[in-house]
Amino acid sequence: MYPLRRNRILRNNSAIRHLVRETILTPSDFLVPLFVVEGHRVKEEIPSMPNYYRLSLDNLEKEAKELWKMGLCAVLLFVKIPENLKDNQGKEALNEHGLMQRAIKAVKNACPEMLVMTDVALDPYSTYGHDGIVADGIILNDATNEILAEMSISHALAGADFVAPSDMMDGRIRIIREALEDEELTSTGIMSYGAKYASGFYGPFRDALDSAPVASDEVPGNKQTYQMDPANRLEAVKEAKMDIEEGADIIMVKPGLCYLDIVRDIRNEIDVPIAVYQVSGEYAMLKAAAEKGWLDHDSVMMEQLISIKRAGASIIASYFAKEAVALMS
Ligand code: PBG
Repeated sequence: MYPLRRNRILRNNSAIRHLVRETILTPSDFLVPLFVVEGHRVKEEIPSMPNYYRLSLDNLEKEAKELWKMGLCAVLLFVKIPENLKDNQGKEALNEHGLMQRAIKAVKNACPEMLVMTDVALDPYSTYGHDGIVADGIILNDATNEILAEMSISHALAGADFVAPSDMMDGRIRIIREALEDEELTSTGIMSYGAKYASGFYGPFRDALDSAPVASDEVPGNKQTYQMDPANRLEAVKEAKMDIEEGADIIMVKPGLCYLDIVRDIRNEIDVPIAVYQVSGEYAMLKAAAEKGWLDHDSVMMEQLISIKRAGASIIASYFAKEAVALMS
């Protein structure tokens, strides 16, 4: 008789499906991105990210406590900087009383055990919306690295557990690691956005922080000279390996869904944890389709998240974290 093996036996009922399930999502898989703004009692919904908010520090503390209660134990902080504090050097990024520095302290104050990671890049602080210093039509690499290192020290001194450079300058991981060592900040980790693509999926995030690169005579309105070309695969493995050699503790791949082949490639080649960032545009797409009644929100959300983990992610940065965890209990 053929077939001798009946594959459906392992799918017959919920008990057997659970028993043989290879990938299981838990609250501790998630890293929760949070957007912070100045002000008091601010909770502004981001138009292109329904059900996601910019929070002032008081509400950030509340949110951290709520996340902790749900079993979500790691956050990734982003700040929206007022226009008048932006410049080409990202000076405000180094202000020890700046919004990021206060946000780190607020989360630690509300929730001392919460793991706090911080975005390290100049774009929210830059008048150009670029991740580095602009000069003569280009984004300067080495001069930017010096500032990223100082920024990392400032975040670490404020209490950040990990700094997460998302700028894609060459050599920044080594410069940041060395700077942290020089300051004896030896327990601060580095999560490197090692394979970050020049993606259209970051649109809603740039709305959230008002940080989109502006095209001008001086400089292009895209990040293609530093973020990676979506057409490339080998380059991702090379970049990830270099970042690890330079001292990265965790490698991030970003965006998520379109790049799961990259996640698997890197997983097969390296031995540090991989984080995957399911970015703002991925969130917005599902919200929009669900709003129209074209996709079932919860089942598609869970399918996407499990796929990210199955591809090789140890950590998933996702705007869906809270909604997903609420479904798990
Ligand atoms: C800043 C940064 C960006 C994102 C994370 N860090 C935007 C960008 O590179 O332009 C995008 C995250 C998202 O879309 O959810 N360097």
